[in-house]
Amino acid sequence: MDRRHQKILILDFGSQYTQLIARRVRELGVYTEVRPFDANPADESIGELAGIILSGGPDSVYDERAPQPSGGWFDFPVPILGICYGWQWMAHAFGGSVEGSDAGEYGPAIVDVVDPESILFRGLEQAQPVWASHADKVVTTPDGFKTVAKSELAPHAAVEDSARRWYGLQFHPEVVHTKNGKQILHNFVFDVCGCRGDWTIASFVDEAIDAVRRQVGDGRVVCGLSGGVDSSVMALLLHRALGDRLTCIFVNNGLLRKNEADQVLNDFRSRYKLDVRYADAADRFLELLEGVEEPERKRKIIGETFIEVFEKEAAACGDAEFLAQGTIYPDRIESASVRGPSATIKTHHNVGGLPENMKLKLVEPLRDLFKDEVRRVGEELGLDSQFVSRHPFPGPGLAVRILGAVSAEQVALLQEADYIFIQELREAGLYDQTAQAFVVLLPVKSVGVMGDFRTYEQVVALRAVETSDFMTANWAPLPPEFLAKVSSRIVNEIRGINRVVYDITSKPPGTIEWE
Ligand code: XMP
Repeated sequence: MDRRHQKILILDFGSQYTQLIARRVRELGVYTEVRPFDANPADESIGELAGIILSGGPDSVYDERAPQPSGGWFDFPVPILGICYGWQWMAHAFGGSVEGSDAGEYGPAIVDVVDPESILFRGLEQAQPVWASHADKVVTTPDGFKTVAKSELAPHAAVEDSARRWYGLQFHPEVVHTKNGKQILHNFVFDVCGCRGDWTIASFVDEAIDAVRRQVGDGRVVCGLSGGVDSSVMALLLHRALGDRLTCIFVNNGLLRKNEADQVLNDFRSRYKLDVRYADAADRFLELLEGVEEPERKRKIIGETFIEVFEKEAAACGDAEFLAQGTIYPDRIESASVRGPSATIKTHHNVGGLPENMKLKLVEPLRDLFKDEVRRVGEELGLDSQFVSRHPFPGPGLAVRILGAVSAEQVALLQEADYIFIQELREAGLYDQTAQAFVVLLPVKSVGVMGDFRTYEQVVALRAVETSDFMTANWAPLPPEFLAKVSSRIVNEIRGINRVVYDITSKPPGTIEWE
């Protein structure tokens, strides 16, 4: 990242909210990066470091496996804020004490601000609704700390050591349920750390363009374009930086949504004036998938075939030395989480899946951005809202939404049903209220009746979820009248489907896709 920005560093002790802390601080206009709890402070350049936040985490400081940060962080002459576990760890390490309690504090709580001089609560009222999530609590604070707020179950809910500029919170300011959490973080970042707020999307775009130009010089870049948010934004950004020295490759794997290939090609070629090569490999993919039922096997075949097709097409582009990838920040920090990457539930082949033997140098202009920031960059670059606010679409496409074996006929059937569902969602103004919605084609036939005839055709499931991170999700309570309309259109308009069901499983225990 550009060295001109001040930075707040976040040490991750494994809290589910760590990324949220990073996003909240960025929303305030201050650049943040997340490091694993055991990162080495010697790797950090103090130049632009404005402050450090220690995240929460699931452990007790007394656990054998409790994550321990290097003491070196506390030698930096910058302010430090410990949140939940982060604060407990500070208390424990610097001479205070932490105790387990029978009744933890989980969920909404009220803290009472007892010190009107408190800098963290500056401008806020005495009673503050907060979100807590802890079993242990700090019972005595290390020397130098003053208690500025307490709650029923946390006698030191907020503490300040203004000499060392070390602070602690027993609750989570990053969670929306902490009503004034944003203000508390604002007070820390601006009043304590003295940040200027020099991180904006417009400044990001200018700097990213400069950085790409510096990296690529007068070389050429190839990239895959899928029409998804990340690759679309990346392509526009690279095009802005490099003009016709960028070549995009659009691979049609035959598993796309109805009209998808035409739409992406048309828009990016005629509207955005990008050089997009079209590799129509639908037959090849479908041939290799014939008879394959097992989901992970489908993913593997699709991943490998994508690479094969992409490589061939890229070689035909001649002299490119660089390969651009739409890697974003969560892709990188999730894979370096506290206890290593979480167990593979599904292989998401598109992360880190591009050809290793291509000998191309990598360009990753979005590698420091969160998804919502990528969308804002897209807006800044003039990307149409139909691309910016698109639901995610998995790399293996409709293959993981056709349960069982994939064939051209099954793809065509699912495309029609999916088209109706998405069209109706858009018309009803419900598309943007759901994070992801699609149809799943089941390998099950059921009996129906149409007019005087008995039918015996396939069943589809509608799936719609609400989520912000796709790690957990709730099924979307779409209105019954709406579902009725979609169901009746699908059954009446598509021959081959005679029954529609609605999936009411949240994640966990379900996953979003069915395969
Ligand atoms: P699950 O089904 O794991 O999905 O709850 C979470 C998110 O990931 C998407 N997904 C994939 N994306 N390749 C992808 O690029 C894949 O193999 C894949 N599998 C699931 C899914 O659509 C959802 O947004």
